Amino acid sequence: MQGDIDRKNSEFWDELCGSGLAKSLGINEINNATLKEFDKAYIEIYPYLPKYVENKNLEDKKVLEIGLGYGTLSQLLASTNCDYFGLDIATNPVKMAQYRLNQLGKANKDEQIKVGSALSIPHEDNSFDYVYSIGCLHHTGDLPQSISEVYRVLKPGGQAVIMLYNRNSFRQLVQVPWQRFKQFFKRNSKQNFATFVRSLYDSNAVGEAAPHTDYVSSSQVKSLFSDFSNVSIEVQNFDTYVLFDGKLVINRESLLNNFARFLGLDLYITAIK
Ligand SMILES: C[S@@+](CC[C@H](N)C(=O)[O-])C[C@H]1O[C@@H](n2cnc3c(N)ncnc32)[C@H](O)[C@@H]1O
Repeated sequence: MQGDIDRKNSEFWDELCGSGLAKSLGINEINNATLKEFDKAYIEIYPYLPKYVENKNLEDKKVLEIGLGYGTLSQLLASTNCDYFGLDIATNPVKMAQYRLNQLGKANKDEQIKVGSALSIPHEDNSFDYVYSIGCLHHTGDLPQSISEVYRVLKPGGQAVIMLYNRNSFRQLVQVPWQRFKQFFKRNSKQNFATFVRSLYDSNAVGEAAPHTDYVSSSQVKSLFSDFSNVSIEVQNFDTYVLFDGKLVINRESLLNNFARFLGLDLYITAIK
């Protein structure tokens, strides 16, 4: 069962998450200029992300990032002159992070960016000052195991910065039940509802949903991180809402600093070992 999820994850995520954004920007070749353009657009979408890097002193610290995707966070982290390590279950995100670090003149870091699983992190106990994992651990199929692995590899006093999907988001509390209600009246609807919900969060170029996704509440986070101290949770991110056949559009940007802080899609967790 776990082996099946791992295999599906390594296939699914070989299409870099962020490929849809890259396509919308007309990016079909990877080089310094196109990655800069991608990162600028990515940070415009997630303007709160850089703060989780900038408000820490990462210089010379050992930092592990798990779940690399298109690599905007890898780029931000490695640019701080930390000792950067990366891990991803799929090959292409690893290649992308290696490319980015090579471009930054950190060519000897290739072996520090590996293919491997968050469920069995290929590093020794007590090795890292920071572990970052944004939007990854809820895809592993075993959230408790992935968090205990993060705990294991952190040094005492080290910090985890983890993003997990919020079970109590506006999407989960309003949009998903509304879709469920509509589906109930659709005859012949063959789509599995849980798969449909996963596709709202992560889907590939042909519209397939990520193989596995968990959604957690703040109280579940407290229990999942019970071995850590100073656990803090910030709620971020929101959907754009297009209502009444496009007559009313509520841009997500206008909601990021208000509604999103209560009912947003993502929980940003920081916690100390
Ligand atoms: C939604 S993407 C997030 C990427 C990036 N952090 C971002 O926010 O754009 C999830 C990433 O987690 C990786 N991933 C999924 N399961 C994993 C596992 N068991 N171990 C390590 N990485 C995994 C995927 O390959 C993918 O690159």
